[in-house]
Amino acid sequence: MQGHKWFAAVYDRMTAPAERGFLKHVRKEIAGGASGRVLEIGAGTGANFAYYQDGLEVVATEPDPFMMRKAEDRAGEAKARIELKQASAAKLPFEDASFDTVVGTLVMCSVDDQAEALAEVRRVLKPGGEYRFFEHVRYENPIGALSQTLIAPFWGWVGAGCHPNRRTVDSIRDAGFEVTRVEFSMPTPPIPPMIFTRPHALGFATPRND
Ligand SMILES: C[S@@+](CC[C@H](N)C(=O)[O-])C[C@H]1O[C@@H](n2cnc3c(N)ncnc32)[C@H](O)[C@@H]1O
Repeated sequence: MQGHKWFAAVYDRMTAPAERGFLKHVRKEIAGGASGRVLEIGAGTGANFAYYQDGLEVVATEPDPFMMRKAEDRAGEAKARIELKQASAAKLPFEDASFDTVVGTLVMCSVDDQAEALAEVRRVLKPGGEYRFFEHVRYENPIGALSQTLIAPFWGWVGAGCHPNRRTVDSIRDAGFEVTRVEFSMPTPPIPPMIFTRPHALGFATPRND
């Protein structure tokens, strides 16, 4: 991946209001509860790193070299041991069944092909392992969903390939996961354009045996 230089440059500033608000609770729950051998996909600038438990071994992957550079600084400050690797979720350079936990926050909006990336998440998870996710998803309300679809081309252009209108929880089930818990929320957007990146789905899934 060539990467998105400007998106990486502004990402932390753009998300700062949300990080001070709902995202800190999300990261505490998703990353803070990760255990065993952990893989993070699409780690971005490393916003989850500070939330992993002391001494935990985390392999954090990210395809964008500009995001990676920012993540490197954060990896050094974390209490967990973070190993960074440049890789796409579409082709994870790890053996089958090699992680207890996979963490992904705000990633399935950006991957080119959700089915491909989720198949990789499933492949690298051990049987009984857990995929801990937080994603913005498509509105159930048809007007909301239509607004997301109409803005999608522009949104993808300014948002480094982000698709605001994906049915990500359905995709997770379709990829062979049992979603053991999912909570949808509709926080007040900290900045007005973020009305397109609601509702949110925070959840946990485990590979089905089929
Ligand atoms: C909105 S950012 C989220 C970053 C971070 N996970 C967070 O919670 O702040 C989306 C991230 O997905 C990454 N991404 C895009 N395509 C990807 C792929 N095929 N595999 C893994 N990550 C990808 C982007 O480079 C970017 O870092």
